[in-house]
Amino acid sequence: MNPTAHVGRAAQVSPAAGADDRHVRIYEVGPRDGLQNESRPISTATKARFIELLAAAGLREIEATSFVSPRAIPQLADADALFAALPAMPDVRFPVLVPNERGMARAEAAGARALAVFTAATDAFTQANVGMTIAESIEAARPVLRRAGELGWWRRGYVSTAFGCPYTGRVDPSAAIAVARSLLELGVDEVCFGDTIGVAVPDQVAELTGRGVAVGIPLDRIAHHFHDTRGTALANVAAGLAAGVRCFDASTGGTGGCPYAPGAAGNLATEDLAYFLDASGWEHGVSLEGILVSARFIADALGRPLASKVGQAGGWDPASGAPTFRT
Ligand code: COA
Ligand code: ZN
Repeated sequence: MNPTAHVGRAAQVSPAAGADDRHVRIYEVGPRDGLQNESRPISTATKARFIELLAAAGLREIEATSFVSPRAIPQLADADALFAALPAMPDVRFPVLVPNERGMARAEAAGARALAVFTAATDAFTQANVGMTIAESIEAARPVLRRAGELGWWRRGYVSTAFGCPYTGRVDPSAAIAVARSLLELGVDEVCFGDTIGVAVPDQVAELTGRGVAVGIPLDRIAHHFHDTRGTALANVAAGLAAGVRCFDASTGGTGGCPYAPGAAGNLATEDLAYFLDASGWEHGVSLEGILVSARFIADALGRPLASKVGQAGGWDPASGAPTFRT
């Protein structure tokens, strides 16, 4: 039996949700955030196959790669070749990370049609990540977002270290919100608040979201990106849902980490997120079985066992009580 048929206590998870508001977007970051910090070389063909499996699992937003400096992120130096190797999938959005006009020219030449620019809530992290202040990184994003707007691309803006910074500690929500507003003014369709080092707790998520909405950021233009470094990612998703957010990032297999964020561990695993949403009665269009197939594929490519909870335990059939999709 299909475990997604099970509808749980969603109303308790999300008092903000109306009956017609049952859809959640799962934004897959495994091929980009998940792999960027891996030292073991992964072939372009393996990455392309991983992305195909993710699309086959029903994911419709898959952050494919980064057009950044290959010196900064060697694992994604094959972005141009990878993009060329992807089969045409008109119903799947493949955003790519673009730091500057050079990256934009590469993304355009490769055939991208969606992008993400990135900055952070603290100057210290932005300096470590891209060698710029927040203000400078926003200036670097300006022509990129303008060009992408002319081309009609979908545009996302990341606000990393939105809750805590490895260099300066806890982050005041007003700092993250100010950066998000700058990005929205430059035309991004969506801002994504990132818990880059996995330190956030639900109260912070509720406060940041509430304050963002209070200054006029529409809920449907907010996404959340949690790392599960300290086991708080799903609790944070629940807080995001309760606050009305309907887009969450996750990485199939729970891979991930930023080389410029010491202590960052894996992203929230897509399989953990999908199980949680299914059992809570949220619709997302993604097959848990398909995710687990993709998760095992990438774990094999990386040569290590699956770290995610649902990767280890499998799903669960509420009709019979039996685990599902176990290896
Ligand atoms: N694509 C390819 N190469 C690029 C590039 C791009 N988008 N942007 C810069 N480069 C190259 C330059 O040509 C130059 O190469 P060279 O030394 O062989 O001449 C080198 O990178 C340095 O360029 P410079 O303009 O001086 O940039 P920088 O060294 O200050 O680096 C960034 C700035 C933003 C390009 C770099 O820090 C970066 O790509 N960071 C990405 C970090 C990231 O992805 N983090 C994880 C996501 S949160
Ligand atoms: Zn991340």
